Amino acid sequence: MRDYREFLGEVLIPEEKLQTRIAELGAQISRDYAGKSDLLLVCILRGGVLFLTDLMRRITIPHAIEFMAVSSYGVGGRESSGKIRISLDLNVDIQNRDVILVEDIIDSGQTIAAVLDLLSTRKPASICVCTLLDKADRREVPVPVKYTGFSIPNKFVFGYGLDIDDYYRNLPFIGVVDLNKYQAGS
Ligand code: IMP
Ligand code: MG
Repeated sequence: MRDYREFLGEVLIPEEKLQTRIAELGAQISRDYAGKSDLLLVCILRGGVLFLTDLMRRITIPHAIEFMAVSSYGVGGRESSGKIRISLDLNVDIQNRDVILVEDIIDSGQTIAAVLDLLSTRKPASICVCTLLDKADRREVPVPVKYTGFSIPNKFVFGYGLDIDDYYRNLPFIGVVDLNKYQAGS
């Protein structure tokens, strides 16, 4: 695998800015859910993993975590097809629990809308979406998003959980891919 510097267009959100915003989100969630006894954070694998682990450390009220893995059918790694497949479902019952879906990025909205539809049928006390990044200009289906880290322009980004062809999720910042450079070298 190549060094990411070969195709990094720019650092869109540096590590300190990510961490500052995540601390704010954690504080906000802690206030909003104070007194709720059964908060469950559901991380959407794999992109949401870094966000979840940093966010939960900033949430000061008791909560549990769970994971779901979802993939979209039909197209390559860069766009949603609108049909999703649940490859890992929850191991717990969410009935009467307060659920927060933790996502890396909302693009067309297809993935998270389908997850919301599915989980809503299981009668949670409440369910909402917390996304680190939002490409609102790309929305194809309306999604109610309660917590947003950053609204970003319509550019392909990577790092901090987000991959390009499965790699580079470990980077501590969000970078923009220079697709010409990326494609030229592959
Ligand atoms: P949606 O269903 O179109 O909202 O797509 C959401 C999913 O597409 C995210 O959970 C990511 O896995 C992926 N995705 C969308 N935009 C990007 C990006 O810029 N970089 C990396 N993954 C992305
Ligand atoms: Mg994702």
